[in-house]
Amino acid sequence: MRSRENNTLFVAAALGLTLAILVTFQVYILREPMRIRLVQAADKQAAEAAGQELYADNCATCHGTNGEGGIGPALNSRDLLTATMDETLAGLTRFGVPSTLMPAWGQASGGPFTDEQLNQLVAFIRAWEPTAPEISLVAEEPDPMRGAKIYETTCFICHGQEGQGTSNAPTLNDPERLQKFDDIWYHNTIGRGRLSKVMPTLVTVLSLAQFNVVVSLIAAWREGESVAAEFPLATFVTNALFAIREFDRPDAIFYLKNSIPLADRDQAEEIQAIIILIEDNRLFEAESSLIAFLPPEEMGRASFDSNCSPCHGDDGTGGMGPNLHGSSFFQSKSDTELAEFILAGRRNTAMDGFEGILGNEEIDNIIILMRSWQE
Ligand code: HEC
Ligand code: HEC
Ligand code: HEC
Repeated sequence: MRSRENNTLFVAAALGLTLAILVTFQVYILREPMRIRLVQAADKQAAEAAGQELYADNCATCHGTNGEGGIGPALNSRDLLTATMDETLAGLTRFGVPSTLMPAWGQASGGPFTDEQLNQLVAFIRAWEPTAPEISLVAEEPDPMRGAKIYETTCFICHGQEGQGTSNAPTLNDPERLQKFDDIWYHNTIGRGRLSKVMPTLVTVLSLAQFNVVVSLIAAWREGESVAAEFPLATFVTNALFAIREFDRPDAIFYLKNSIPLADRDQAEEIQAIIILIEDNRLFEAESSLIAFLPPEEMGRASFDSNCSPCHGDDGTGGMGPNLHGSSFFQSKSDTELAEFILAGRRNTAMDGFEGILGNEEIDNIIILMRSWQE
């Protein structure tokens, strides 16, 4: 009897203990997701706080203390934040926007920030989203023609001249697919790329404003419109010159063949002759024929369009950089001094030097063009 009583007590105690363990464990299981959520919330808060500091020290001067914009566009904007994924924001910050005042901040591009710091910045910017005011993404109207210019320098190599596709990349102007996806989908697909399938991440080369005009081109295709960019003949010629100097014969021939429809009969014959020189690997002769092919001022215009007008305006009439018409600095310098200035740039301003980017004749041609503006 005694032993039985003892047993019962023991069993009861063991049962109680088991129950206690179960209850504790159960509660623990129930609380685990909450715990994770709390830790995540704390991490997020810490990231946002770190991001806030980085932002105040590095970004506020151009984008405004509260992201309202200034020299740079507003980042605290409903449209921008809903249309832009974290990867795109991080990519734009990491690589900067070439040919604008937006510097590259990622260490791989020579900037100060690690990936973790970039993520902290994005976390801080993202936290604006719920209360972000409606500021339109770009003040500019959708501009399919400008989109076509970007498309025809950045996308057509893979996707074909009018988006018809090539062996490298799918058709983009397929009406069925265009109906199926909206602008935001295209915006994100183009921004993110599909790296595993050779579609590059274009945040490295396009700004958001450029994404928007490319997407407006795709929207025009959706409406059944055909939009062709118009390039001056000189653009193809300068591209071909650049390719020759890189000893890239296929590219040089590609640009010259594409220039033929823009040329008159005599010019077309001359271009054919230059193509033959390139095919024969007589690159120096091809180079000098190309340099003499168009008047220097016309060549200078093509070089100015792609290298200087993003800051100095289409006709040098000014933008982010000063108006170059009637510049007393310009007028007071000799051609040699100006060429040196363009190569070296001006320290601590957005006017970077073009050493290694522009060749001597290109600079000479740009100067000839700019001289024509001084009268
Ligand atoms: C010297 C001025 C300057 C500074 C400093 C600067 N930005 Fe910018 N940023 C710009 C300009 C100008 C643009 C617009 C570029 C263009 O024309 O596409 C821009 C564009 C952007 C964009 C794309 C937004 C859009 O609508 O195109 C993001 C994101 C951005 N900046 C984030 C940052 C962050 C984060 C920092 C701080 C680490 C920073 N910027 C510091 C000038 C600046
Ligand atoms: C180096 C070649 C290459 C370049 C340059 C390129 N793409 Fe692509 N793109 C691809 C490939 C390959 C795919 C298909 C990826 C896949 O199979 O998912 C693709 C897919 C796409 C898609 C998705 C199509 C769909 O219906 O699923 C879009 C949109 C797109 N590209 C737009 C662009 C735009 C706009 C540009 C220029 C700003 C561009 N691409 C530049 C190779 C390229
Ligand atoms: C990223 C923007 C940017 C680009 C691209 C750029 N510039 Fe500038 N440029 C500037 C700024 C900003 C200044 C004024 C610098 C200062 O504050 O002193 C300037 C100054 C100049 C000046 C001196 C003007 C004066 O009155 O002091 C000349 C000349 C000039 N640039 C020519 C060029 C040429 C030629 C190109 C193309 C090969 C070019 N720039 C490309 C931004 C740019």
